[in-house]
Order: sequence, then C-alpha cells, then structure tokens
Amino acid sequence: MKIAVIGTGYVGLVTAAGLAELGHRVIGADKDVEKIARISSGIIPIYEPGLNELLAAHHRKGRLSFSADLDAVAQEADVIFVCVGTPQHDDGSADMSQIEEVSRLIADNLNRYKLVVEKSTVPVKTSHWIKRTIGLYKKTDTPFDIASNPEFLREGSAVSDFLNPDRIIVGVESDKARDILCGIYGRFKDRLVVTNIDTAELIKHASNSFLALKISYINLISNICEKTDANVEQVAEGMGLDPRIGGRFLKAGIGYGGSCFPKDIKALVKIGEDLGVEMSLLKEADRINFDRVRVVMEKVRKALWILKDKQIAVLGLAFKPETDDIREAPSINVIRELLREGARLRLYDPQAADNMKLLFPPEPGRVDYFTSPYAAAEGANSVLLLTEWEELAGLDLVKLKETLANPIVIDGRNIFSPEALKKLGFEYYSIGRK
Ligand code: UGA
Repeated sequence: MKIAVIGTGYVGLVTAAGLAELGHRVIGADKDVEKIARISSGIIPIYEPGLNELLAAHHRKGRLSFSADLDAVAQEADVIFVCVGTPQHDDGSADMSQIEEVSRLIADNLNRYKLVVEKSTVPVKTSHWIKRTIGLYKKTDTPFDIASNPEFLREGSAVSDFLNPDRIIVGVESDKARDILCGIYGRFKDRLVVTNIDTAELIKHASNSFLALKISYINLISNICEKTDANVEQVAEGMGLDPRIGGRFLKAGIGYGGSCFPKDIKALVKIGEDLGVEMSLLKEADRINFDRVRVVMEKVRKALWILKDKQIAVLGLAFKPETDDIREAPSINVIRELLREGARLRLYDPQAADNMKLLFPPEPGRVDYFTSPYAAAEGANSVLLLTEWEELAGLDLVKLKETLANPIVIDGRNIFSPEALKKLGFEYYSIGRK
C-alpha cells in the first residue's frame, strides 16, 4: 500500500517519517516546489529532535520520497493523510481553505478507491465537508472513505511522541477504513481507540483545550500564591500526587503559547458558540492566559521601576524548549510591552533567535541579539527568563552575576531555586512563590 502525506509542516513531516519508520512506503507531498526541493536534498525547514536523521535514513532506504506533483501523488496513493495547515481567522475560527483545496485535488484524481485520513487539527464536522467536497467534484463513481486520525505530537518531542503514542484515535464510518488504519498502526494495536468521525475530531480539540485549561488553572492559583505565603510549585506537586489530577501540565509560568493551544481553545469556543453552547469556561481560560503578560510586566516594573533605557537580557524566546518555533510565544507580547516602555533588549535563544529577528529586527542599542546567554547578560540591569531551556537552567550563576550590571533575575518559568539565587546575592522574582 502506498501512503501519501500532503503538507510538509511539523505534523506532515513527522507523520511521513513516522509512517516510514513503521515500515510503510510513503510520499511526502507539498505544493511548495522549492520546499520539496530543499527537503529532498536533506534541508529540513524546522528544528525537531531526531527528525532530520529519521527522514534521511528512510529517504536513503527508498521508503520515503518527496514530490510537489500533487496530482501524480494523489493518483499513486492508496491512503492520503491530510496534514495541511488550518490557520486562524480573526474571529477565532479555523481557516479551512487548504483542506478544501486538498479535497478537490483528491476528487480530481480519484482513479481508484482511496482512504482519505484527516490528521490536521480541525473543527468537528470537517470530515463531513471533505466527504461532501470529494463527492461533489469527483468525476467518476469510484468509491472512497474518509477517516479522522488526530495527531497528538508535541513540538520538541514530536518524533518520539509519534513512535510511542499514549493512544491512537481512529474515527471511521466503514469497516474497510477501520481495517486499513488499524493495519497501518498495527504495531500499536493495544493503543488503538476506534470511534465515529465526529468523536475522533472532538477528542483532539477537547484534549488540547483541557490541557490549556489546566495550565490557566495553575496560573490562576499562582496569583493567589503571590498574595499569600503559599508556594505554587508545592501546591502543584501536592495536587498532582492525586492520580485523578496528575502532575503534568501544572507548571505555572508566563502562559501557554505555540501553534496549538491558543488557536485550538479559541476554535473550540467558536465551534461551541456556533452550535449554541455556552463556552465561558474556555473563554476565561484564554483570558487568564492573555493576562500573564501583565503579571510578568508587573514583576519587571517591581524589579526595575522605570523601564526606559534599562537594559534587559531576555533569555529564551521560543514558546517552549527544544524548538525554534515562536508562533504565539508569550515572549512576543512581553517583548512588545518592554519595547513600548522604552527598555533596551538583549535577546538570546539557543534556536529561535532567527525566527524572532523576522518579527523584531535587530536595532543596535534597542534590540540586540547575542549568541550566548552571558553575552546577552553583559552589562544588563536584569535577566528576564522566558523559556525553560536546559541550557539556561544550567547557567553558571556566579559567572552570570559577574556579567550583569545589577544582579536581578526575573524568572518567568521557575527554573531556578529561590534559595540558591538569594544565597548568591541575586534579587530574584519568580511565579507564585517568594
Ligand atoms: C500541544 C499538545 O501537548 C500536543 O498533544 C498536541 O498534539 C499539539 O499541541 C498539537 O495540537 O499539535 P505543543 O503545542 O507542541 O503540543 O506544546 P506543549 O508541550 O503542549 O506546550 C504548549 C504550551 O504550554 C507551551 O507554551 C508551554 O510552555 C506551556 N505549558 C505547558 C505551560 O505553561 N505549563 C505546563 O505545565 C505545560
């Protein structure tokens, strides 16, 4: 069986590499001819641990190829995974135009039975629209099936998430589609959950929104900790020991970012409201997240008072560690606010600086980028830590103190120990603890 993966973003590339690793013959396809040329020659447009190696290995073995000839790919494939983007409209709803485009492409090239598997995160009922679109535009009576197989990979650990899944959700409406997908994921048969299509689509949105809600919940609790003697790290630990709650995604900080949570929670609000369901619970979680910028800015002002002309070493720009992705990163709004108040920023990130330069181009003396955290800290009035990279957690604090003009650390991710920093003579601010 020949599998095509259409879309070569994070989800598409990882899916293509992962399916090849499961032993399948896979074609990764994208309409962007230059991108396909680069990927074919081994230049992968994203940083994702282990991805380059896996793509290269299967490309070499001949199990994985890439093509920008979408018509040919659609004709050749028996199973088509749709992994194109669903960006956000201004009202929070998802832009489904790329999904429609792929549906029409498949309709045009339906030369024999195909299973179309939607893997992008999409609103519930999207498969229904894909099916309707293919049905409307196909030129023959050739049968086809639709399935939903939402992806749960996390950036930074996407390859290992794909190859060690907690669960694989397979939403189908025919036995044939179920058998094909269960066969593709045969290695994980103990983790397969078969549902109808609407259920599969909703599982993805409901999972992401629940995790976002969990993060906003602990951030709300951290606000209470800051007004009392409670310590949010210990509150989270104590809560997380209850297996019904669990300790993961209870890390207080500057809020969630990335291409998924902020978009998915807004999209689920829109989906619910369109269906006449009151969605204020999720709206509030989104608002609490938005408010994290204010919380961080209050700490910066508490530490530095007037920000105009203060030099701030901003360490960590990516929306989370182990990625170069800055989409919806909380750092963006924090940087914007700091610049608005006239601060001079000295920025460092192990992977994301180039992406951030596209948003905030270097302006000597106002926005400067450095290739080491110590260089960024040189002569700065404080450090503001925004992403919990291991490299930053392991900084030589004595060296950092000697480098800074003022030994002040504002830690938006609670990566340092308050006792250790205070002992070294730092003035230290963190989230939800003294
Ligand atoms: C998320 C989900 O975790 C994946 O399961 C899902 O497949 C993916 O979205 C998607 O929809 O494609 P990802 O966006 O890569 O994955 O990142 P996460 O690791 O979930 O982190 C999201 C944000 O939450 C980050 O900004 C992170 O810093 C923040 N976060 C996470 C916290 O502030 N506290 C926590 O305890 C955990």
